[in-house]
Amino acid sequence: MINSILKKGLALIIASATTFGAMSQDIKIEHLSPSHTFIRLTGADKKLLLPIQESVDDAKINVIVDGKLERTFYARLARNKTDFTVPFDISPYKGKNIILEVVSPHNRTSLREAQDDAAWEELRLVDEFDTTNREKFRPLFHHTPEYGWMNDPNGMFYKDGVWHLYYQWNPYGSKWQNMTWGHSTSTDLVNWQHHPAAILPNGLGTVFSGSSAIDTENSAGFGKDAVLAMYTSAGDNQTQSLAVSHDNGETFEIYPGNPVITLESEARDPNMFWNPETKLWTLILAHALDHEMLIFTSPDMKEWTLQSSFGKGFGAQKGVWECPDLMEIEVENTGEKKWVLICNINPDGPFGGSGIQYFTGDFDGKKFIVDTDDNGNVPTKWLDYGKDNYALVSWSDAPDGRHPVIGWMSNWQYAADVPTTQFRSANTLPAEMNVFKGTDGQYYASLKPVREIDSMRGSLTVNVRKTSVSKSPKKYSLPSVNKGICEISLNIDPKKSKEVSLTLSNPRGEQVIMSYEVESGTLSFNREKSGHVDFSKDFPVETKAPVFGKTKNLSLRIFIDTSSIEIFGNNGRFAMTNLVFPNEPYSTLSISSADGSAEISDFKIYSLTPNN
Ligand code: FRU
Repeated sequence: MINSILKKGLALIIASATTFGAMSQDIKIEHLSPSHTFIRLTGADKKLLLPIQESVDDAKINVIVDGKLERTFYARLARNKTDFTVPFDISPYKGKNIILEVVSPHNRTSLREAQDDAAWEELRLVDEFDTTNREKFRPLFHHTPEYGWMNDPNGMFYKDGVWHLYYQWNPYGSKWQNMTWGHSTSTDLVNWQHHPAAILPNGLGTVFSGSSAIDTENSAGFGKDAVLAMYTSAGDNQTQSLAVSHDNGETFEIYPGNPVITLESEARDPNMFWNPETKLWTLILAHALDHEMLIFTSPDMKEWTLQSSFGKGFGAQKGVWECPDLMEIEVENTGEKKWVLICNINPDGPFGGSGIQYFTGDFDGKKFIVDTDDNGNVPTKWLDYGKDNYALVSWSDAPDGRHPVIGWMSNWQYAADVPTTQFRSANTLPAEMNVFKGTDGQYYASLKPVREIDSMRGSLTVNVRKTSVSKSPKKYSLPSVNKGICEISLNIDPKKSKEVSLTLSNPRGEQVIMSYEVESGTLSFNREKSGHVDFSKDFPVETKAPVFGKTKNLSLRIFIDTSSIEIFGNNGRFAMTNLVFPNEPYSTLSISSADGSAEISDFKIYSLTPNN
């Protein structure tokens, strides 16, 4: 109190450039005007903890080192209270004169108002940032950033036994901003290790989504097996940039000739692969607002030729087209091959907001020729029938002809409002993408959890070979270890029943109901009473999947991890990913059927334990 009276007094006496309130020897605050503050820093090898308040607007922060503007970033600096802190690393500027010039977003008329911000009192320099998990809803076996906001997975590649995963990251807050490529690696697609950010915003803009691939032929001239990344530079407009890594994806050098692709209209999220048949790089780019994908080729990743476009008028067209992928996949049990073109769209997903549509067809190296149905129409196909799988793309250079993919487990409708703070958003389980021929003669993509996931299986807490269920529910306990995270697998033979329901519940009466409606051949997922749901009107909705069954039997694998439920049905023929935020873990699974009894077989519940 005395301190703040003193400060206000000082502000009245001293004119525009006011120096006061040194928090420590190493931090000096100078308020130059109502919306303009200098944070002067000394002290090497340290991190500055920035106090963040999520509900306020972003301040613009210019990092000035020895008088030169080094970089600019944005952070929601605390005005009345601090929700959490994020670190700004000053160690790269050791021994230099560092000023963070803060331009406030708040319309202020007096210096006094500016001085009262909570942020100034709470700035601290620390040697290490404490990343210990403080979040109830942080998943155990899904990838999450250590802290900060994450959206799309980016630039994934496999090399020398290591799966690399980059992601759209805001290191300075848990809402979207400052897009940077965060980086994690895994040797088993289950346990993830965090690495320093790989590509930071630069002169051409922030770093939006993109892809990576290994240059096995040294086509770009940076050296054999260099890792090449293409991403969107988001500056005043969106252009496409190239970066190269000589240390297996740890750090990237930005190609000085960037941008390598420019267009007059919004285009982003380049996804490329080396085509051994044409000996050219093929790149697919989302022509976002034109609702189409553009296909380019290049001999060297620098000179690109537009070959064709695909999509105008096809599939879901209302949303913005984003994050494409294009890959050739063998069709199960037929020996044929099909090309799958992934097109993430937002909004206009199947249940509102974000969704993943895809097209099957053929590709001649330049042009994608889409499959049509018997009437010559192009059917809209969805890869996931939940609300929370978006921006899904594949790993490049995967071994053994595999096509592993991963998505961002959220939805733009409410991603910034979900009840977490230290971090926001996880990735989906890595899944294997395959293609199968449906009973209607159409080709469909399927998603199965990658086989590595099985290594997490711990004790088998339920193991029922066969049981019959009817109206009065049979109840089974979920494992209590690890916040109840588990895998449930079972087969349902509905017999003469019309509906078979699986209900997850906790002692607070919170529940998720999954219902197999036999006649319509659909599985629905209702999270209206699943726990915290009122942070967004778009959250508590029911999602529904066609089960793509040859018979009425339905097999399910269900993965529960703290704040998500992923369902893979009929050997991956449909997938459904939904977030849930129960106040305490679900502890019971109840199974019942309506209008007759049904048979449940090969029913197993495993506790899951990631190795780390
Ligand atoms: C998709 C997306 C991309 C873009 C990125 C920006 O979620 O909008 O199109 O590159 O997010 O973070």
